[in-house]
Amino acid sequence: MTKDISRPYRRLWGRAKGKPLSRYQAGLVTDKLPNIALDMKNPLAGLEHYKSVRLEIGFGGAEHLLHRALENPDTGFIGVEPFLNGIAKAMVGIEKSSLTNIRLHHGDVWQFLEKIPDTSIAHIDILYPDPWPKPRHYKRRLIKQDLITEFHRILKPGKELHFASDIPSYIDWALARILKHGGFAWSAESAADWQTPYNGWPSTRYEAKALREGRTPHYFTFIRQDAPATL
Ligand SMILES: C[S@@+](CC[C@H](N)C(=O)[O-])C[C@H]1O[C@@H](n2cnc3c(N)ncnc32)[C@H](O)[C@@H]1O
Repeated sequence: MTKDISRPYRRLWGRAKGKPLSRYQAGLVTDKLPNIALDMKNPLAGLEHYKSVRLEIGFGGAEHLLHRALENPDTGFIGVEPFLNGIAKAMVGIEKSSLTNIRLHHGDVWQFLEKIPDTSIAHIDILYPDPWPKPRHYKRRLIKQDLITEFHRILKPGKELHFASDIPSYIDWALARILKHGGFAWSAESAADWQTPYNGWPSTRYEAKALREGRTPHYFTFIRQDAPATL
């Protein structure tokens, strides 16, 4: 468990560090990360001139984040990841492809989420969030009612939230909570919809491991709609 760096009642679970960074990676993290680090008080700072802004939470090895940023040069990206090695991989990819449309936050999504203005984000990805498959650890799961409420607040109407998982109990957990919110329409019309990867999906290391170990990827798309009025 890493130390709690978010609000007092939230904990950041999981690993924050893996194998030591190479000298090149460490140099990028020290010298270049500060230039593209997210301004936590104003998370959209520096991204104002992009056509739209997307958010990816827990990007892991950054395969998807880098791929989408290259694919959409006129879109700004916010990538969040508490695992230092993931940040280092993102920095290597950003440097290699000279990407200028990514801002990174090395830490927990809750450290800045509430500073994102209402209906300012054009797309949210939460791809294979840490599964915490044991029932006694379910409470560590990132997808909870408060996160879903924030997703609804920051997403533009009609825009998409993508959630992928290979863990049946997490899928049940997330679907129940996202649909209960009432502000997201699940776009699936048949099983093929959640069995088929997203358009242009590059896959990730996590997904490759899941497939090797015999688990099945599921890809969910929810459209942000107006939430029902509360009584
Ligand atoms: C199972 S991995 C999946 C990584 C990547 N999305 C992929 O598909 O390969 C889950 C990621 O979520 C990150 N994560 C965990 N808690 C987080 C939090 N509170 N905010 C942002 N990311 C978080 C983890 O560090 C980890 O890299």
